[in-house]
Amino acid sequence: MLRVFAAESPAAICAAIYTRIGALRRGVAHFNPAFDYDAGGQPYSAVRKPDPRIAKQIRAALGTNTRTVLNVGAGSGSYEPTDCHVVALEPSAVMRGQRPRTLAPALRATAENIPFDDGAFDAAMACLTVHHWKDKSMGLREMRRVTRGPVVLMVFDPDAPTEFWLYDYAPELLAVERERHGPIGALTDALGGQCRIEAVPLPRDCTDGLKVAFYARPEAFLFDGVRKAQSTWSFIDKATEARIVDALSRDLTSGAWDAKYGKLRSRPYINCQLRLIIAT
Ligand SMILES: C[S@@+](CC[C@H](N)C(=O)[O-])C[C@H]1O[C@@H](n2cnc3c(N)ncnc32)[C@H](O)[C@@H]1O
Repeated sequence: MLRVFAAESPAAICAAIYTRIGALRRGVAHFNPAFDYDAGGQPYSAVRKPDPRIAKQIRAALGTNTRTVLNVGAGSGSYEPTDCHVVALEPSAVMRGQRPRTLAPALRATAENIPFDDGAFDAAMACLTVHHWKDKSMGLREMRRVTRGPVVLMVFDPDAPTEFWLYDYAPELLAVERERHGPIGALTDALGGQCRIEAVPLPRDCTDGLKVAFYARPEAFLFDGVRKAQSTWSFIDKATEARIVDALSRDLTSGAWDAKYGKLRSRPYINCQLRLIIAT
């Protein structure tokens, strides 16, 4: 513990203490953020297709003069710009194997140890992956080291307000998200420099099947295949997952869900906790 703290800024130390106290209060003292994508990543690319509107926002954040991009925690290649030279890093063979043939193969590497020289890339990106890293600060410092221009992260801010209703059924999932994402300030501190934060509006027909993407399509959560492509569910036990799904199923059948949240079915976008951090 002391060894980790010795390398951190005061703000990062406070964030780590805050997160740990929260974890102890919630009874998740030894939380390990790692989800084994080699064991559980097979359904990913069928459910998690990059959404073109989110892709456009990420491309703009990478900068108009950008020609070379590093994609860290690249998974199956979602959101990689098609008008740049992209090098992708991805530790899981199962995820690397799901890259479409139109994209170059990914290197087997982690954020914490990026095998490139200082300032090798114009820009770097990491989408929905930082919360899986064993050492977020080290990974972000590595991204900063190898990048001359913007470093763009797509992350969740667990402290931001949200209209997403799933956590009313599943406070256990909210506890998991708070624990593994941690405060957004810890990420901006680790990146250093100037950081701008943009909200990412989530469209009703979002093609990237992350949990909140189904805010207007609650029936999706009744399908195993959808939940299996959302790593949060793997951090709660099967009995709890079954209880959550049963409660939602009952409310959809009885009309209770629509009575309470039905207005969201016609909302074109939702305010949620999805954010871009753009560090320059
Ligand atoms: C939710 S997926 C996101 C994939 C992709 N970026 C996307 O937006 O669809 C998270 C990815 O992070 C990868 N990952 C986990 N730990 C990592 C680490 N330490 N360094 C880099 N990538 C990691 C996983 O293997 C997985 O492919």
